[in-house]
Amino acid sequence: MKTTISKVSNYLNEEVTIGAWLANKRSSGKIAFLQLRDGTGFIQGVVVKSDVPEEVFQLAKNVTQETSLYVTGKVVEDTRSPFGYELQVTNVEVIHESVDYPITPKEHGTEFLMDHRHLWLRSKKQHAVMKIRNEIIRATYDFFNKEDFVKIDPPILTGSSAEGTTELFHTKYFEEEAYLSQSGQLYMEAAAMAFGKVFSFGPTFRAEKSKTRRHLIEFWMIEPEMAFTNHEESLKVQEEYVSYVVQSVLENCQLELGTLERDIEKLKNVKAPFPRISYDEAIELLKEKGFTDIEWGEDFGAPHETAIAESFDKPVFITNYPAAIKAFYMKPDPNRSEVVLCADLIAPEGYGEIIGGSQRIDDLELMEQRYEEHNLTGDAYKWYLELRKYGSVPHSGFGLGLERTVAWISGVEHVRETIPFPRLLNRLYP
Ligand code: 4AD
Ligand code: MG
Repeated sequence: MKTTISKVSNYLNEEVTIGAWLANKRSSGKIAFLQLRDGTGFIQGVVVKSDVPEEVFQLAKNVTQETSLYVTGKVVEDTRSPFGYELQVTNVEVIHESVDYPITPKEHGTEFLMDHRHLWLRSKKQHAVMKIRNEIIRATYDFFNKEDFVKIDPPILTGSSAEGTTELFHTKYFEEEAYLSQSGQLYMEAAAMAFGKVFSFGPTFRAEKSKTRRHLIEFWMIEPEMAFTNHEESLKVQEEYVSYVVQSVLENCQLELGTLERDIEKLKNVKAPFPRISYDEAIELLKEKGFTDIEWGEDFGAPHETAIAESFDKPVFITNYPAAIKAFYMKPDPNRSEVVLCADLIAPEGYGEIIGGSQRIDDLELMEQRYEEHNLTGDAYKWYLELRKYGSVPHSGFGLGLERTVAWISGVEHVRETIPFPRLLNRLYP
């Protein structure tokens, strides 16, 4: 029976054939252990010299790393392997021989691995991270569908900037100037006025000259937007969503979390509600923690976020930042106009900001005032203003950065390992 590694448990004590690549191998005079992978999983194939024709044993003994094979064998339980099964091999057929595979079981430097990303993706660790990424995406669709959100796809090519003009990728749109989307938010606001509760999931681009473990040039964002929803109600959705995602990974990715040696005790605790502190309180906390220079009005950097997160064992919301350091569309606090109704969600363990969100300005006059202050002129923003003209309602939304979330939940150090083909400062290859 032809099957995949993920399905071998359906064929206990039966003979199956799988298409696979040789990930690794150990052999002695009498026995060969083939570490096989087929994309759906990893399994050990055991080839015993006395049980197979001599040519099959010789082939198994000499097969090279990443050679593609059809392997036939009996599925048996193996309590020592985390996977639980192994194959007692009866036949091996080579599909294509791989010669001098560059990524050997020995240690390689990061740049070498990044140059071979197209092959590095085959490794067990990278496989585990991508499976967790996949589970987060699955849980995201599950959560928002269950909550009656409509998936809406904003454009990638845009005429306007959502988050500020300095970090835009410019391109030509025939005769016009265009940009790659930094965020679908403005379009999602239009969509919320048409569908009530919406979410997007797509690539976004930032021409940021940042070279840190948290920054990608191209990253994927999940952006929900909700009509008739205030800031407080939006925070509830955020904490429910993040809890749902973490608990889904814990439930469905046990093997992968094990491969990554993730400390899952730290994740089990991630359940709503999450703690909240105001920007003002965060400034006080930072001063107590030795950041004596920080002053009200300054934005937080990675060391600040890490220090704040250390005081909590769950993700923490920092709310009500000064208006001056946040985007033009955020609604001022009605009791205190120098701060806005917004929050950043900071992940534990130094992974930094994973969500940025806010209530949006719904008043036409105030938005017109912001346009003047931020010099937002021309047709590109005309439509956005019109959303405040025809039945404007209180509305809020947020953006969750997928790669930072994957990094945190997987426990990998750097976001470059959380997206199949990372776009980084000075890296467009492969
Ligand atoms: O805080 P940001 O810039 O917010 C927005 O773009 C809003 N328009 C979202 C919204 O309200 N709809 O980005 C949101 C999240 C951040 O919290 C972070 O997780 C991620 O996107 N992010 C990045 N991830 C990787 N590399 C980068 N360069 C990132 N910049 C932001
Ligand atoms: Mg932000």
